[in-house]
Amino acid sequence: MKTALITGVTGQDGSYLAELLIGKGYVVHGLIRRASTFNTHRLSNIFQDPHSDSPRLVLHYGDILDSDSTATLVHRIEPDEVYNLAAQSHVRVSFDMPVYTAEVAYVGALRLLEVLRNFSGRRPVRFYQASSSEMYGDTRGRLSETSPFRPRSPYAIAKVAAYWQTVNYREAYGLFAANGILFNHESPRRGETFVTRKITRGLAMILAGRERALYLGNLEARRDWGFAGDYVDAMWRILQADRPDDFVIATGASHSVRDWLRLCCDLVGLDPERIVSIDRRYFRPTEVDALEGDPSKAERLLGWKAQVRFERLAAMMLASDLGDFGVDPQRYPELAERLG
Ligand code: NAP
Ligand code: GDD
Repeated sequence: MKTALITGVTGQDGSYLAELLIGKGYVVHGLIRRASTFNTHRLSNIFQDPHSDSPRLVLHYGDILDSDSTATLVHRIEPDEVYNLAAQSHVRVSFDMPVYTAEVAYVGALRLLEVLRNFSGRRPVRFYQASSSEMYGDTRGRLSETSPFRPRSPYAIAKVAAYWQTVNYREAYGLFAANGILFNHESPRRGETFVTRKITRGLAMILAGRERALYLGNLEARRDWGFAGDYVDAMWRILQADRPDDFVIATGASHSVRDWLRLCCDLVGLDPERIVSIDRRYFRPTEVDALEGDPSKAERLLGWKAQVRFERLAAMMLASDLGDFGVDPQRYPELAERLG
């Protein structure tokens, strides 16, 4: 039975990855931060599993910045695989908190790599770094593993540094250390302040009579949006490869924020012109205008392919948010049809 350690287990990806690994028979250890309220709501499916007879998910208090406690944990649980998903992951917020963002997203990754370099003398271990399409920033075209990075935010710059540190630990120390360069991926568990979820949740609140308007920033930005459930499968495959390597994970198709907004409004019969206002607060000092990935290396070498596409993703997220606000998704024929 394999053992995995996930940092960032309470986040969107951490929760899907924990489920995936448990389904494959792993014992999963997750690092969680102490909070003044419950922060494990995304993991409730796992805790509520009636078939669970032994603790397959074990949570440990810690912080990616506290390498002493991380080292103690790693030496105690002796993981086969470590997935580093912890980050201050909001690009807009990284302009307000650049140093903190760099400490968590870059120095945190470096501290963990150091812990694993020491530990790997005792036992082989595989390391996954959550790298990001944001690293490409201003680079245009279909982006692949060989495209240059031109980061445009404190978050992206921290991720570029962590990316190269991961490559360096692979080359300098022979550590099995790999980067997944993941393009945007969403789900009903997506943080509420990322644009896809902000829109689906905002529309649900309007339909439930809880809000009257939705305030958004730049509607022209384009992203390559996939489903988080598909993308955690890619993370796992990256660590099962014969040798450590770096992979772009994307759908290969991009759409604008305006496209997402229109599609979601169409699915529930709302007119975006009547409910959306543009608010300068949501613009970034430097924007990444367009990101579209070329996942052909992952398709060829990992046998991975995105399953859930744009329209299905929107329907899935809208239905979930409507349900949360007590509105039956079946009331909207176009949405019901997409849900199948
Ligand atoms: P998320 O929902 O924001 O989750 C981030 C996780 O990191 C949370 O569990 C958070 O804990 C944890 N964390 C933050 N600071 C920490 C610290 N100092 N010590 C320990 N844990 C800490 O992000 P996500 O969407 O799941 O993304 C997962 C990773 O992939 C992130 O590194 C992100 O930058 C990267 N990524 C995401 C995407 C995407 O489209 N989703 C694309 C490319 C790369 P709390 O719950 O306590 O806040
Ligand atoms: N968040 C947000 N809120 N974004 C908005 C809004 C708004 O009200 N209005 C327009 N946008 C635009 C942003 O300017 C950006 O161009 C685009 O929507 C997507 O923004 P986010 O959903 O916040 O995601 P992101 O692309 O900045 O970052 C996400 O994806 C990265 C991968 O490329 C995050 O998950 C990062 O952690 C991840 O690395």
